[in-house]
Amino acid sequence: MDKLVIHGGHKLQGTLRVSASKNAALPLMAAAILPRGVTFIDQIPHLRDIVTFSHVLRITGASVNRQRQGLEIDATRVVFPEAPYELVKKMRASFYMLGALLGRCGKAKVSLPGGCAWGPRPVNLHIEGLKALGADIDLEQGYVVARVPRGGLSGGSYRFEPSSVGATVNLLLAACLGRGGSRIENAAIEPDVIVFCDMLTAMGAKLDGIGTRTIEVEGVDQLHPIKFSNCPDRIELGTFMIAAAIAGIPGDPVLITNAQPDHLGQEFLDAFQRTGCFYKIDKDTITITPPDVLKPISITTAIYPGFPTDLQAQWTILLSCANGTASVTDQVYGDRFNHIPELYRMGLRAEVNGNTVTVHGGHHLTGAQVMSTDLRASVSLVMAGVVADGTTHVGRIYHLDRGYEQLESKFSQCGINIHREQYNEFENPPQG
Ligand code: UD1
Repeated sequence: MDKLVIHGGHKLQGTLRVSASKNAALPLMAAAILPRGVTFIDQIPHLRDIVTFSHVLRITGASVNRQRQGLEIDATRVVFPEAPYELVKKMRASFYMLGALLGRCGKAKVSLPGGCAWGPRPVNLHIEGLKALGADIDLEQGYVVARVPRGGLSGGSYRFEPSSVGATVNLLLAACLGRGGSRIENAAIEPDVIVFCDMLTAMGAKLDGIGTRTIEVEGVDQLHPIKFSNCPDRIELGTFMIAAAIAGIPGDPVLITNAQPDHLGQEFLDAFQRTGCFYKIDKDTITITPPDVLKPISITTAIYPGFPTDLQAQWTILLSCANGTASVTDQVYGDRFNHIPELYRMGLRAEVNGNTVTVHGGHHLTGAQVMSTDLRASVSLVMAGVVADGTTHVGRIYHLDRGYEQLESKFSQCGINIHREQYNEFENPPQG
């Protein structure tokens, strides 16, 4: 197993480049099996989740080949409409195969994802929504078994409550090749969903209302394969902005390139500015200039354009470096605080109450052996190690490898003392 070892206290200087988006890449890959033929998606990050989802696609009969920065997906033959438990349990987004296989094959057998590291994450909206559009769905031995009536999905109308990224993607995947019209209300408007809708449209899908809360779909007989380019990763951008704020030299700008700051939503940008950090956007570059002292700014997560839940763990580290007390409330996932007990081991002063963590900043963190529990929690531990006194060992880094491309080399090129080591957790437990 791998761990990251960080000798804290070094300043972050220079330029960080944001990689292509993971969360946008996954629905684009699912969409690639809708048309017969070869689709090329440029700008796909080299990440564990992409490798896992490539396996999920291959099981259906499609072939997936990496070509430099992109993926070539040949969906000429899609003959086995299943997504097995072994892969879906590794990555919940494999559940996109439900909509994709219904669209392409008219039937699907996809494992239910089960729990996740931060509590229950239901898929009721995916299932109820697909039923409302005309799919027959049964649950059999942990699998969702679905089929569309003869002639294709009849279409219908469904309102999400709450709005869901994954369920919006699944319904669109199924509805594009239906025979009727469909209407999705309270649809997700995250940038990842808009990029996905743009790809469907380029393939010949008829969608109306992209980027609004109501999307109407008119089913078409077939879609055609295309070349398409993915967008930069907004969560990696937010992570780098926070890293620059806490580890940069006050008054000395850090550059972040391949950035698309409008994808972060105004709430994040406003909260970031209120900490006293100055940012300037010039085309696809954002320059961050940290202040002498960070102000403690409380945030509450919400669906887009609210403050992203995927950035709340990193914000907790920012608050630990700020001068005073402030809180992080997660309204999207009320139990997403697995990183807090690990951070206590580094001296974090904070209390968790329900879905809120109150952080008392201004006290130095100290290096310790800590353990990753999920993707965003693990990057928060790395960031804590960057600002801590002494050495931090972040174990079970495979969580981080799911969603951050070459993080340690990007950070070390900017002056952070960080490297990867292999370890045997059984002989030398990272928790001490
Ligand atoms: C996506 C992101 C994830 C991010 C999350 C919220 C991907 C691969 N993952 O996950 O990184 O943290 O958005 O921004 O893009 N809900 C239900 N029933 C459902 C589905 C969702 O109640 O059937 C609820 C969830 O519990 C949550 C809210 O809806 O409170 C939003 O979740 P959703 O947008 O579906 O998240 P994901 O698509 O799973």
